[in-house]
Amino acid sequence: MLINKIVIGCDHAGYALKEQIKQYLATKGVQALDVGCYSPQSCSYPDIAHALCSEIQSGAYTTGILICGTGIGMSMCANKHAGIRAACCSDVFSARATRMHNDANVLCFGARVVGYGVACDLVDAFLNQEFEGGRHQPRVDAINALDESEKK
Ligand code: RB5
Repeated sequence: MLINKIVIGCDHAGYALKEQIKQYLATKGVQALDVGCYSPQSCSYPDIAHALCSEIQSGAYTTGILICGTGIGMSMCANKHAGIRAACCSDVFSARATRMHNDANVLCFGARVVGYGVACDLVDAFLNQEFEGGRHQPRVDAINALDESEKK
């Protein structure tokens, strides 16, 4: 894979699929830091999204994967963090395009939405696609500038 080191997290709804995706990533030589949760016991997805985003904000990781029931709650939480551009995807075109156009750094998907096969395809598309830059760069810069304006 183009990106071979990621941080991954889930809530209880995404736990089983996260375990499968971790195994899949290992077969592809991708190292994954797991920030939880660590069992199917009910937990709060904002806490996990925050832990994952902190790893990216610290500079330790550039890229993350978050899995909950729908992928939506995780993406909402992740996008509240400065520097995080999270994309909730359930199709391969979007997973690739959000890297190309938005320079997304967190892929979110729902374990109640996609199965294991589609999830693997989403991960492949996301981790193997470079940001195109060019005309997309000023738009991504404008997204990032919102982090600053929202602090005021
Ligand atoms: C958990 O039941 C569920 O609400 C959560 O996984 C997620 O889908 C939220 O967006």
